Amino acid sequence: MAGSTLEIKDLHVSIDDKEILKGVNLTVKGGEFHAVMGPNGTGKSTLASAIMGHPKYEVTSGSILLDGEDVLEMEVDERAQAGLFLAMQYPSEISGVTNSDFLRSSINARREEGDEISLMKFIKEMDASMDYLEMDKNMAQRYLNEGFSGGEKKRNEILQLMMLKPAIGILDEIDSGLDIDALKVVSKGINKLRSETFGCLMITHYQRLLDYITPDYVHVMMQGRVVKSGGPELAQRLEAEGYDWIKKELGIEEETVEQNA
Ligand SMILES: Nc1ncnc2c1ncn2[C@@H]1O[C@H](COP(=O)(O)OP(=O)(O)OP(=O)(O)O)[C@@H](O)[C@H]1O
Ligand SMILES: [Mg+2]
Repeated sequence: MAGSTLEIKDLHVSIDDKEILKGVNLTVKGGEFHAVMGPNGTGKSTLASAIMGHPKYEVTSGSILLDGEDVLEMEVDERAQAGLFLAMQYPSEISGVTNSDFLRSSINARREEGDEISLMKFIKEMDASMDYLEMDKNMAQRYLNEGFSGGEKKRNEILQLMMLKPAIGILDEIDSGLDIDALKVVSKGINKLRSETFGCLMITHYQRLLDYITPDYVHVMMQGRVVKSGGPELAQRLEAEGYDWIKKELGIEEETVEQNA
């Protein structure tokens, strides 16, 4: 079975009438791992939120297609059902819903009615995935993300990723807040998903994640656009030299603060 293709074409996104994304082009296919890097505030998380349909992010022009289907026409839950998954930079806490119940209903939402995962199978899979991620089993019965430490939240996002097996996973700074051992465990979980049917978009600031998960492509986002793409060597150069050389190469000026008249 071939993987899915997520195509983002000339995407423009505004928040409160301020344009944040100014024409993003990016294609992620099943089997490919893409890293997106770029300075703070350049729109990386905005891109992730727009793909998932966060209501605050208004798509003013351009398109997002998943296997040719118009993602922008889909409701948020339909996007997840279609196989898109976002591990958020700041996962939300949901009080009153246990981690385990949340996961099970998310899995079932992607299955046909009458074809729900059996409780036994679900528990077995969750146990195995939690073991793989070296998670404390009592995390399953706690409310989703409530009181989870920063690193526990990130590990839990990967638990969701492993259990939901989306076609395209978008991981927004999955490495932030992880200790060195946790970074290895989380990377192991992500690498386990590598297959021809899984495409991954990893937003990160640091080479340290890419030491464990080698990307096929690296993209640099600046001022709301993908301004440069390359292979893993591009991330290494960024780690060594920062972003100034790209600004010089492309003649990008520093963002000037807009003056109110
Ligand atoms: N909900 C929001 N309300 C107002 N402004 C927002 C909102 N979300 C994003 N922005 C603004 O959009 C710009 C891009 O933000 P975004 O979070 O996409 O950046 P980023 O590239 O992910 O940065 P970082 O590397 O710091 O995570 C920023 O100037 C930010 O303040
Ligand atoms: Mg961000």
